[in-house]
Amino acid sequence: MSAKPSQTQRIGVLSTGMYVPPKVLTNKDLERMVDTSDDWITSRTGIKERHIAEPGTATSDLALPAAEEALKRAGIAPKDLDLLITATTTPDMLFPSVSCLVQQKLGATSAACFDISAACSGSIYAIITAQQFLQGGRYRNALVVGAEVLSSFVDWTDRTTCVLFGDGAGACVLGPVSRGGIIGTDMGSDGTQSGLLFMPGGGSKYPPSYQSVDQRLHYLQMSGSDLFKVAVRRMADSAKRVIEQAGLKVDDVKLVIPHQANIRIVEAVAKFADLPMEKVFVNLDKYGNTSAASNLIALHEAAQTGAIKPGDRVVLVAFGAGLTWGSVLLEWS
Ligand SMILES: CC(C)(COP(=O)(O)OP(=O)(O)OC[C@H]1O[C@@H](n2cnc3c(N)ncnc32)[C@H](O)[C@@H]1OP(=O)(O)O)[C@@H](O)C(=O)NCCC(=O)NCCS
Repeated sequence: MSAKPSQTQRIGVLSTGMYVPPKVLTNKDLERMVDTSDDWITSRTGIKERHIAEPGTATSDLALPAAEEALKRAGIAPKDLDLLITATTTPDMLFPSVSCLVQQKLGATSAACFDISAACSGSIYAIITAQQFLQGGRYRNALVVGAEVLSSFVDWTDRTTCVLFGDGAGACVLGPVSRGGIIGTDMGSDGTQSGLLFMPGGGSKYPPSYQSVDQRLHYLQMSGSDLFKVAVRRMADSAKRVIEQAGLKVDDVKLVIPHQANIRIVEAVAKFADLPMEKVFVNLDKYGNTSAASNLIALHEAAQTGAIKPGDRVVLVAFGAGLTWGSVLLEWS
């Protein structure tokens, strides 16, 4: 479903933040862990290294510094925050939400807090959700965090998945803007393809048991090549749709920030959406696929490196398990 925001109140991104754990795992390191090579990983994915949290690190531990940075840059004290939404696939625990745990660590005592489960599209879903709350006028500001400790759910003996993912967190603060802001959104899902990427164990269907551990049900499972094709089509369609529905053309967009899954997916999306690669932001070589954190980490780096400037139109586009996909078109303000 696509939607243009109402003309009453424009909502924009006021600031961004990010945090990745210090430990770097290179492709060369992975060569010592599974039957793979730097050449294979680089040529098939574009990933050179990823950041990995130390054992015992929770998703909220990564979310906190990203959230603090975004709030500081926005000049908003934690106690003045109205809404906190975290997108994650790897919460600290099934409940309470990561958002409530971050709230406690931040001291954001006035915020309403909940999580969004939309896998790698989570930060797009969370931005669109926050926008709806803010447009209503009852909430003045919102902190959106995308945070993951995927290393706890990756099977480090499975070369087909363990080379792809990394840990990290990105954040942004949303609020009213006088000009620019979010000018288009697009979201979609297809539950019929939920079997392409999932983690069966640990929920109500397969609660933890000796058997579930023996069967390795607590690791993510993926049909990589099937996902690849759907990811390209869904992200290209969503990006094109959000641009067209705002009455714009690809030429009117300064930068597209795609979910950083695989350089071949990103390049194929650019081709299908008629986008030159110069307009596509890529940092997956440094971080791998950080799922719900990916778009927000990339947005932060794009803003901090000057790749986007006030007035530029930017498309965030993502795709993930569910299946889910979505886009946000915004004018940087
Ligand atoms: C996973 C992915 C990189 C695999 O690339 P691919 O070109 O499709 O490769 P294939 O799965 O066809 O595997 C080709 C061969 O490489 C092997 N291979 C897989 N992983 C390997 C690795 N890390 N190192 C070396 N060889 C590997 C396979 O076993 C296979 O060998 P075989 O031909 O002898 O059976 C790719 O499918 C992909 O990126 N898919 C999308 C994944 C994704 O982004 N998921 C998250 C979505 S949000």
